[in-house]
Amino acid sequence: KHTLEETLLSAIRTIPDYPKPGIQFRDITTLLGNARAFRRAVDELVHPWAGSKIDKIAGIEARGFILGGAIAHQLSAGFIPIRKKGKLPHETVRVAYSLEYGLDEMEMHKDAVSAGEKVILVDDLIATGGTAEGAVKLISQMGGEIVAACFVIDLPDLGGRAKLEALGVDVRTLIAFEGD
Ligand code: PRP
Ligand code: MG
Repeated sequence: KHTLEETLLSAIRTIPDYPKPGIQFRDITTLLGNARAFRRAVDELVHPWAGSKIDKIAGIEARGFILGGAIAHQLSAGFIPIRKKGKLPHETVRVAYSLEYGLDEMEMHKDAVSAGEKVILVDDLIATGGTAEGAVKLISQMGGEIVAACFVIDLPDLGGRAKLEALGVDVRTLIAFEGD
């Protein structure tokens, strides 16, 4: 019997110096391809909300779609795609968010969430928190209530968890890599 941490540590692949020297890339494709590890990760993320009424799961393109879809199914919730700009066909709300270098923009359909709906935000990883913060703004702007933000991986040294918690968001993560 492996602990959650052992399962995740052995299933997440680390690529040194990718995409550039000094960066340890935490690759979840190996976790997704490992049936037991994928199920375990989804089950752990879902567990706190079993039996709660969650209206929507919002997943952030692209890796947040994979986990978010599985979590939405498990919680019998709807799914909201939060996409990079220019991909969604109907009326959207848009927000700029910070990347390592400069800004990008993400969008959500205006009618994807209704005022008062309970929403859980999902992504694979939180680093600086810029991406998740943008998503929180979009959901809040349409009146969604953010129950929690869930990630498999936390890179706490980059401050994302602290940034979201300062906004009053309940942040849940499964494994932290420090010194990244
Ligand atoms: C990665 C990761 C998170 C985000 C975290 O996505 O999947 O979405 O970065 O970084 P942050 O906390 O510093 O904002 P990426 O932008 O590389 O795109 P992808 O998911 O489409 O591969
Ligand atoms: Mg991403």
